[in-house]
This record gives sequence, structure tokens and C-alpha cells, in this order.
Amino acid sequence: MENIQLVDLKNQYLKMEEEIDKAVLDVIKSTAYINGPEVKHFQADLEKYLNVKHVIPCGNGTDALQIALMALNIKPGDEVLTPSFTYVATCEVIALLGATPVFVDVYPDTYNIDVEDLESKITNKSKAIIPVHLYGQCADMDGVLQVAKKHNLKVVEDTAQGIGADYTFPNGTVKKAGTMGDIGTTSFFPSKNLGAYGDGGAILTNDDQMAAEMRMIANHGQSKRYYHDQIGVNSRLDSIQAAILRVKLRYLDDYNMARNQAADFYNRAFKDSPHITAPFTASFSSHVYHQYTVKLHDVNRDALQAFLKEKGVPTNIYYPLANHKQKAFAGMVKPERLDTTEELSNQVLSFPIHTEMTAEQLEHITRSTLEFVNG
Ligand SMILES: Cc1ncc(COP(=O)(O)O)c(C=O)c1O
Repeated sequence: MENIQLVDLKNQYLKMEEEIDKAVLDVIKSTAYINGPEVKHFQADLEKYLNVKHVIPCGNGTDALQIALMALNIKPGDEVLTPSFTYVATCEVIALLGATPVFVDVYPDTYNIDVEDLESKITNKSKAIIPVHLYGQCADMDGVLQVAKKHNLKVVEDTAQGIGADYTFPNGTVKKAGTMGDIGTTSFFPSKNLGAYGDGGAILTNDDQMAAEMRMIANHGQSKRYYHDQIGVNSRLDSIQAAILRVKLRYLDDYNMARNQAADFYNRAFKDSPHITAPFTASFSSHVYHQYTVKLHDVNRDALQAFLKEKGVPTNIYYPLANHKQKAFAGMVKPERLDTTEELSNQVLSFPIHTEMTAEQLEHITRSTLEFVNG
């Protein structure tokens, strides 16, 4: 059996080696390394795939969030509501702009933003909400959008982990993750479901004016060459990454299906264990399993991780310390308890999931896990 990895990018590459090598070499030979045709082509391909009017490629998923908040004119004194149970980038950008992150609890089943807790934390300083489609499943966007509308708040969907997921509204309308709020953001970090071979990100919107504004911010606030209307940033997706992503986008649905097949295997294996709660699939969203994350009950998580490591099975904890407990945010927010978030930080464990998993590997991982948890 091949070594088990949390993410297997090597074998994924080998399956499309020729296509990727050609795409990369073509860019090298063209010398159009920055803002070349491949960036425009990838942008158009992604707009089509997501059925969104504007894709603005940028340097990474963190920049995408920052540029989105800059376009919404988020400034010191403003409050932006977001789950605490997310990667630091979601919350960091709020603080970076001098605004205050307001940490919201999550639901214990979907691990995504709790809409009741969200609404209870809205004040007259609230300006925007950043729901996160954590682990690859959409947050309750119908609920989030209703709250946003009622309180006149903007919505930026952090889709770094959810690209390709479908959300079904109560009236049956289906939309892709990242295309439901005012702005969506995503990351092409190599391990993401649509991963580049370096850094990359994108901003998504159906709003023409907002798109123009964000393009300008991402390019030094430049309206025409060497004329700068506002302070911006330098955030670009380079042409080599765009060419790689163009190839990989063609396989994204297959990748997400392969992840679902691996998740189904795990679900079947874990379904009768009183020690493991498999991920919940909400009726309103498909799941693209960026992570396969379970909740453990009456299990020593550290000991399980050590046991699995001995058996050649890597695992990880996303995230062991929620943002509202991080030193970086101390002094910026008042200390509070977010019960579900804190419980999840102690309970969750993520198993290897990627596009190249074999039945033999899954069998070994699940058998070893059950051997430990069942004592
Ligand atoms: C939920 C979430 N938001 C934002 C980011 C930031 O993306 P990047 O690493 O491309 O800056 C990540 C990446 O790990 C993420 O998981």
C-alpha cells in the first residue's frame, strides 16, 4: 500500500502530467507571465463554471477577503460578523482593516454559522457578515441572507473550502457556493479542492460596479496606467498558476465526486460507532469534502492521533483553538464563551481525504480507527 497522505498531489498530477506540463511550458514560452491570456481564459472558464458574472483572480484567498472588505469600505469602528470556528484568515482581514471581528457560534451538526446567534450579535456598528462554507459544505445561506437583508448588511462568502458546492434555496433555486452573497472569495492554495501549484485566489461577484472597484483595488487602486484613484494592493494570479488551474478546473467535478466516494466509505465504516459522529449532510447543500471531519466522543484524541500515526495514518485538527480564544484577537474583542465552537475545537478530527484515495487505504484507516475507539 502506498504511503497515506492527508492530500496526495503527486498522484493527482501524474494523471494529467502531459496536460499540465504543456500548459506550463506554453506560458513559459509565451513570456506573458503576469496578466497573460491564460489569466483571462481561466477567469472566463471559472465564471462559466460558477455561473457568476465576474471572477477577479488575485494572489490568494486572504487577499480576496481583504479586497472584498476594502471594496465594502470596512473601516475602524465597523463590526464584521463571522464564525470563530474557521481558519484565521477570515477574521484576520477584518482586524487588519482596523474593524472589529464579532465572533459568532456555529451549529453543532454542520459546523457552520449559527443564524440565531448571528442575529443576536448585530449592533448599529455592524456592516457585513462573512459566512464560511467550512470543510466544503455551504452555510445556511437562506438564513444568512434573510438576516443581512433585514439589517441592511453586506455578505461576503468565504468559499476557500467550498468551491463547487451547490446550495438549494427553499424555492428550489440552485446556486454555486460563493455566488449568493454580495461577494464571494476563494483560495487556490495547493491542497484546496481546486488547487494551484503555488498561491492563488479569486473574488466573485454579480455586481458590475463592485467588480470594477475590486479589480482596481487589486491593482494598486489604478484606474488607468499610472493613475491611482485610491490606495490599493498588489494582488495577482500569475499566468502559470492560471494555466494550471484551467486544466484542473476541467476535473473539479470529478475531484469532488472522488472526495464524496471516499467520504461515503468513511460514513459507512463509522456509522455504528458510538464514539464517532460522521459529518452531517444538510438538505440544502451538497458537500465537496474539502475535509472529512468527525466528532469524537469519549475518545482520547491525542492518543488516537498517535496510534494512527504509528499505523501510517496522518490526521489533523482544523482548528484546535478557535479565533475568539487566539492571542492575536485579545484586547480587540470582549472575552466570551461560544459553547459549540469550544466543544468542537476539542472534539473534531480530520481524516485523509483527496482525489486519489484507494479502497485499501480507506479500509486500513477505518479499521485502525475503529480498533482504537472500540478499545
Ligand atoms: C476558510 C479559509 N479562508 C481563507 C483562507 C485563506 O486562503 P489563502 O491561504 O489562499 O490565503 C483559507 C485557506 O486555508 C481558508 O481555509
